[in-house]
Amino acid sequence: MALMLVVADDSAVSARIATIVRRLGHEASLASSCGDALEQAAARSVSVVLLSVELPDGNGLELLPQLRRNYPCPEIIIMTRAVSGDEAEQAITSGAWDYIEHPSTKDTLTLTLTRALQYQEEKRNLGVPIALKRERIVGSSAAIRESLDLVAQAAGCQANVLISGETGTGKELYAAAIHENSTRAAGNFVVVDCSALPASIVESVLFGHEKGAYTGADRSHEGLAAQAHRGTLFLDEVGELPRNVQNSFLRVVQERRYRPVGASREVNSDFRLIAATNRDLDAMAERGEFRADLLYRLRTIILPLPPLRQHKEDIKALALHYVAKTCEQYGLEMKGFVPEFFNVLAAYDWPGNVRELSQALERSVASAGSRPLLFPKDLPTDIRARLARASADTLHPPQISDAESTEDPARELPPLDVARATAIAAAEQEYLRELLADTAGDMVRACAVSGLSRSRLYSLLKKHRIPRPGSPRR
Ligand SMILES: Nc1ncnc2c1ncn2[C@@H]1O[C@H](COP(=O)(O)OP(=O)(O)OP(=O)(O)O)[C@@H](O)[C@H]1O
Ligand SMILES: [Mg+2]
Repeated sequence: MALMLVVADDSAVSARIATIVRRLGHEASLASSCGDALEQAAARSVSVVLLSVELPDGNGLELLPQLRRNYPCPEIIIMTRAVSGDEAEQAITSGAWDYIEHPSTKDTLTLTLTRALQYQEEKRNLGVPIALKRERIVGSSAAIRESLDLVAQAAGCQANVLISGETGTGKELYAAAIHENSTRAAGNFVVVDCSALPASIVESVLFGHEKGAYTGADRSHEGLAAQAHRGTLFLDEVGELPRNVQNSFLRVVQERRYRPVGASREVNSDFRLIAATNRDLDAMAERGEFRADLLYRLRTIILPLPPLRQHKEDIKALALHYVAKTCEQYGLEMKGFVPEFFNVLAAYDWPGNVRELSQALERSVASAGSRPLLFPKDLPTDIRARLARASADTLHPPQISDAESTEDPARELPPLDVARATAIAAAEQEYLRELLADTAGDMVRACAVSGLSRSRLYSLLKKHRIPRPGSPRR
């Protein structure tokens, strides 16, 4: 028996729905306001919420994302007196199961409820296998557990998976977790960084080539698709895949067959496909930059990764994990923290997500050297400066200033190798920013000026989280 929460201001509507729910053999609980609904959803394991848009203390559409943050995440059916296009779209993009007008017929309600419940039941039956290997994925927030549920679901089948998320949210980490937990774990996990593949050789890199296929091909070469046979092929930054390769890739995705460059016969490779992107592929498909039919095939399962600012409750665990790792790397004792250190971490928005957090912590450990405690002052200046500016802008007393007053007066120098690595990273970063400014984002000129290969330049930009200019691809 599942629990359904009916959230409506009108008691006649609630009573009618509750009767239908009970006739279906399920339990109905009633809430008449946003506050009441949130409280009940947090306290009990709700399967489906029937949510009115019009509520005395707010709007159901605004409540929807908050309700979906509960774990297990309920399915939400929005009810309104008059359906408006904008509202319907907002409901669906916020993750609603469906959008219905009320009063609606008994049959419509019964069918919508039954389907939502069936979906929930199947999702829960799949569950997270107890043995899900997730050592490298830190965090226990509802957002992370929701992502892990999808990892488990993906690991248990062979469907194509599309992982989306901002930079640094762990797309590669989660792709590897799906592979490691799947029946293909003994095979290779082959990473293809589509943004670093020169368009001229991308087919040969992916599909391999025969000896003599082109000038310089003095022996045949197995492509990455072949290396992923019985394993997983991870297409990172799939939005960067050149248009001509998208065309040939569509067939590969459908049939797992392709022709190596210069070969007369097609070959088979039994790989599982996971793709990742931080771009809006739907928008790209609308603009004709990404094949819509390829997109549909890539996203049989969609795994959207939350930005760190949406699961700040994990920051402390992540900080402990990364500080311990860095200390071990440098042969230092584990550091302690003054409480303000975590306040500052929690106040910042982390546009570069977990990668930015881990790098900031590494720099904090370097800054502390052999000092046993980490202070806010140990965090990178740019982060503290941005926070200070944000606090000043909103006229709130900057938390960071309080924290700074506890700075350790006896700050010591970091070891030389740490100081050297930090200085090199800072110089690299500054150079790259100047390079992009001087060459107005023209990547061909930037490579010529810097003497870097395109793939090296891209990987340095990625390392320092410098956004690539939106220059047209050549
Ligand atoms: N939940 C997590 N727990 C521990 N480490 C994490 C978590 N999420 C991300 N990371 C770490 O953050 C860093 C960035 O992760 P990853 O490279 O997978 O991100 P990404 O989404 O692929 O970023 P990009 O789009 O820039 O390539 C890695 O070091 C990864 O191990
Ligand atoms: Mg990545």
